[in-house]
Amino acid sequence: MREPVDLADRLALFSEHWSPKVVARLNDYEIKVVKIKGEVVWHDHADTDELFLVIEGHLRIQLRDPDERNITLGPGQLYVVPRGVEHCPVAEGDVAAMLIEPAGTLNTGAAGGDLTAAYDDSLLDPSADDD
Ligand code: NI
Repeated sequence: MREPVDLADRLALFSEHWSPKVVARLNDYEIKVVKIKGEVVWHDHADTDELFLVIEGHLRIQLRDPDERNITLGPGQLYVVPRGVEHCPVAEGDVAAMLIEPAGTLNTGAAGGDLTAAYDDSLLDPSADDD
């Protein structure tokens, strides 16, 4: 049997920003936790929606949809960025969030660049290292 995933416990295992870590899988999707501070790059995901659920702090998601607007999320609030909509998350302070997106989705979408995070599933089963 699998153990429950405690998001706070997983978040306590790392400190770097903009480096999403897989904590669970759901069919072809992955559940990731991420720490965010400052601004990533404007990007979109041509093939998929992207779910942000804020756990700690306040996250602003700038959107270039037809209305060009900002969404602000606090703890317990989620937003789904539709596929193809250019977005740029920005955190004034420290933010912890959970993402749900198809396996293989890059954090910077098609934009690429220095902030593109390497795939990291080391927190999928952190106890594995203790065996
Ligand atoms: Ni994105």
